[in-house]
Amino acid sequence: MSIETSHPHSVEESWQLWREAEKLIAAGTGTLSKRPTLEGDEPAYIVRGRGCRVWDLDGNEYIDYRNSLGPITLGYCYPAVDEAIRQQLANGIIFGHPHPLEVELARELVQVIPCAEKVRFLKTGGEAMAACIRLARAYTQRPRLVTCGYHGWINRDGTPDTGLPEAVSALQTSLPYGDLDAFAEYLQSHADETAAVSIAAAYGKIGPEDDFLPKIRALTEEHGVLLLYDEIVTGFRIRMGGMQEYTGAVPDLATFAKGMANGMPLSCYCGRADIMDLVPRAGISSTYSGDALSLAASLATVREYRTKGVIDHLWTRGEELMTGMNELFEKHGLDCRVVGLPPCPSIGVHVPDPVARRNTQQELWRAFYRNGVSLYTVAYVNFSHSADDIAETLERMDRAMAEVVAP
Ligand SMILES: Cc1ncc(COP(=O)(O)O)c(C=O)c1O
Repeated sequence: MSIETSHPHSVEESWQLWREAEKLIAAGTGTLSKRPTLEGDEPAYIVRGRGCRVWDLDGNEYIDYRNSLGPITLGYCYPAVDEAIRQQLANGIIFGHPHPLEVELARELVQVIPCAEKVRFLKTGGEAMAACIRLARAYTQRPRLVTCGYHGWINRDGTPDTGLPEAVSALQTSLPYGDLDAFAEYLQSHADETAAVSIAAAYGKIGPEDDFLPKIRALTEEHGVLLLYDEIVTGFRIRMGGMQEYTGAVPDLATFAKGMANGMPLSCYCGRADIMDLVPRAGISSTYSGDALSLAASLATVREYRTKGVIDHLWTRGEELMTGMNELFEKHGLDCRVVGLPPCPSIGVHVPDPVARRNTQQELWRAFYRNGVSLYTVAYVNFSHSADDIAETLERMDRAMAEVVAP
């Protein structure tokens, strides 16, 4: 495989700064999956974004599908959201009493999220999930939890060497998406001790034929166990109301975060009023919940979604990208495939040997960067990607793949 560059592309300045960062900041930066790994091709730092494009520290431009790993759903520097933030900034960021925007946003969210009789705000997705788990345990007064997928670092199961005592991890069991029998078997023997089943839909497996969520809804009802959805990625992407709106299988509690404020740090947990009303008893509270800037950004974001057909756009552009990428993989004889639903398509490399698979993935991603396309393992389109941007992306990818397969 060749990694020859087709045009000059230097990320030297980025990597010099990264080497200093590694000395000063544990793990180099605060988000593990944002750490750069492909030295020489991948930018270590992004300094500016507009619409669907970003620019790195060395001045290279990329058509971006990382979108902050999900939160940018309308676009970078999206005018209506930035204007709402600017207007609120002129009046203050956060106060010692609630701001009316909290009520205005809640009014909107209970209309678009099927399970949301009541909502409440926090700053990160993981924190909102922790709140739901706490509420589920308070409501049922049962200790066990079944999880599926990533729910944020605070809620990860683990071993003592990851800092989690065995007594705590023994209460949490992680099961794979789609394996209904595994969930049924677990609940058969542990339902009386289980507070909730919590599911983050696996992007690569969801689709029109996937009936896992309706089945898990029926199963949890049969066993009298609460159902909680992590809609942190799927909310404001598959539908505004996430997988519960898409499938019609409505959980008891749910969390939303990425996408609800076009990048401002805001998360929401919501659900049945009788469970949500246990918030004071559970003592869930945070100083930064309900800062007016994030609320203003979210309100503007939700209104754009409601008036501009944002979800349709994400499906259309996502479909163009998915279809185009799969055609290109085929054209270049690359054993790769984009799967899942168009608003969050998952890119898989299917080379059987693990080392060869990793090499192919790295060579591809390096070539994408050199050709000005910035990708994560999920390719997130946003409302600012036009049909022309997708076409230009596919041209750049065509060149990138040719570089990878060239002898
Ligand atoms: C499905 C899912 N749940 C939870 C989280 C955690 O959210 P945060 O990083 O905001 O705590 C993430 C973040 O990537 C996620 O993708």
